[in-house]
Amino acid sequence: MTVETCSPPDKLKQALLKRSDELSMLPAVASEALELAQDPECVAAEFAGVIERDVKLATEILSMSNSVYFAASSPVASLRQAVVRLGLKQCRNLILTSSAASLMKSMPLEQEWVREVIWQHSFRTAKVCSYLNKSMRMGFEGEEFTAGLLHDFGRLLLAVAAPESFSKADSLSFDEGGECLSRENEILGIDHCAFGAWFASHNGLPRSLVAAIELHHLPETHHPNEKLIALVSAADSIANHFQRFEEAGDYDVGLNRGAHALAKLGHPQLLKDVDSMVEKIFGEVLNDSECDETDLG
Ligand SMILES: [Fe+2]
Ligand SMILES: [Fe+2]
Repeated sequence: MTVETCSPPDKLKQALLKRSDELSMLPAVASEALELAQDPECVAAEFAGVIERDVKLATEILSMSNSVYFAASSPVASLRQAVVRLGLKQCRNLILTSSAASLMKSMPLEQEWVREVIWQHSFRTAKVCSYLNKSMRMGFEGEEFTAGLLHDFGRLLLAVAAPESFSKADSLSFDEGGECLSRENEILGIDHCAFGAWFASHNGLPRSLVAAIELHHLPETHHPNEKLIALVSAADSIANHFQRFEEAGDYDVGLNRGAHALAKLGHPQLLKDVDSMVEKIFGEVLNDSECDETDLG
């Protein structure tokens, strides 16, 4: 399968495009910085020169470079030093995460609780992605967090584009059996995966993120980004259970299709060390007050 995304029904497309001022996924500075970061010749000073025009991004890059993950013996005070310490790849992920979080929190939704619930679920999925990536040594460097944060972005977009039918299509129960996508397709003419992927692609997001958005309900798919897709899918299943029960309870990892896909791709730990990993995820990773805060963006 490719990440050539399908086109949404005109009515939904127009509803979003009409509000494109409020729905820009990448502000101008972020866009310019991401483009620059792709250039192998790009130097830290040049990159920092672009970032410093956006105070919020500049502050986030500085504070991350001084966080526990990166802090060396001495704190960095200049943006250029911060970019050197983090590396362009991390800076790039930070820009994507920060831009996505800002947009998710400013989307023009009629019902505020919808945003809150989807935001919490997205943030929890992102945290589980990061935990699994680290504990299974999958080698992602921040991309997994951004993918987790964005995986259900299409649900927010559907709530904006079709507020009158959204609740019929998505009950926000987080009980995601096989019918959830077909119900969306039936009522809205598209599902949240295809709609989110179309929008992300339209906004120039990297192909790996578009693929994770599009295929997180199909983790068995063979795809150049299959590891990221399986990781997001596995984390999504766990975050869904937490959203419903707030504890591990009788969580059955055998029903987690993403976990099976990860095992096939050489990462069987979630299936094998299920007790310790599930305990850690439900007891620590998700039981963190940070999940309920909205200060990321
Ligand atoms: Fe989803
Ligand atoms: Fe989800």
